[in-house]
Amino acid sequence: MKYLVGNLKMNLLFPDDVRQYLSVFAREMEGKSFRNVECIVCPPLISFGIASEMLPQGIYLGGQNAFFEKEGSYTGETSPEMLKRFGAEYVILGHSERRSYFGETDEMIRKKIDAAGKSLLRSIFCVGETKEEREADETAVVIERMIRSGFEGLSKLQAEKIIIAYEPRWAIGNDTTPTTDEIFEMRILIRKILSELFDPKTADRIPVLYGGSVKSTILNDVCLAAGMDGALVGRESLSPHEMVKMGEMFEVFEQKQKEEEKE
Ligand code: PGA
Repeated sequence: MKYLVGNLKMNLLFPDDVRQYLSVFAREMEGKSFRNVECIVCPPLISFGIASEMLPQGIYLGGQNAFFEKEGSYTGETSPEMLKRFGAEYVILGHSERRSYFGETDEMIRKKIDAAGKSLLRSIFCVGETKEEREADETAVVIERMIRSGFEGLSKLQAEKIIIAYEPRWAIGNDTTPTTDEIFEMRILIRKILSELFDPKTADRIPVLYGGSVKSTILNDVCLAAGMDGALVGRESLSPHEMVKMGEMFEVFEQKQKEEEKE
């Protein structure tokens, strides 16, 4: 199974923009179905109602963030429980924009992951190093710290519900990406950390996605050849055509893998 997550961020300003986006998405999906790809669209919260009604069949709804309490006096916040009741199956947590603009800490993100799990939402848990950390050769330390914190106190069963998105912060919102080998190395590192935290079997069940300047033309280099289980897409997810194209690329890849396994 591959995962394709579209993070629409704070875009699509008018209700009609959202409707337009979703109807183009539905048109692009006509006659196609993803059997080996879980495609998830994460619209701004204010568009959730429209999205939950209009999302094409087989495409899942995700939140871009959630708070760690279930309900109460938390002005401006939304709980995982609310997202769930409005039709979400997934929620992005710990995105680097949340960490840098809204001061989210590892501790807050851990609580959010915990709360999401309690509301039966799957967390898409983002981890990634800054440019400075990378230059100081601290990437592995940072990733390990984030993962250990995010998974703290979880059982194996709870851990298996989480999807990790490795998103180097310096690769988001521009056109620089790590090499295939560099991403593959991160894949290995993340698996090693998860194996130590749980066991190798559990580690294998936790999908690891790549995020940061993903588009169809480089999907092979940053995801498929790098052994990743999918992609978290920002800007390019604003094009339903690109999303469906990447979904199809994943689908073809997965079908080939299955056939090869049979032989
Ligand atoms: P980008 O964003 O694809 O625009 O680089 C990725 C992300 O923020 O998840």
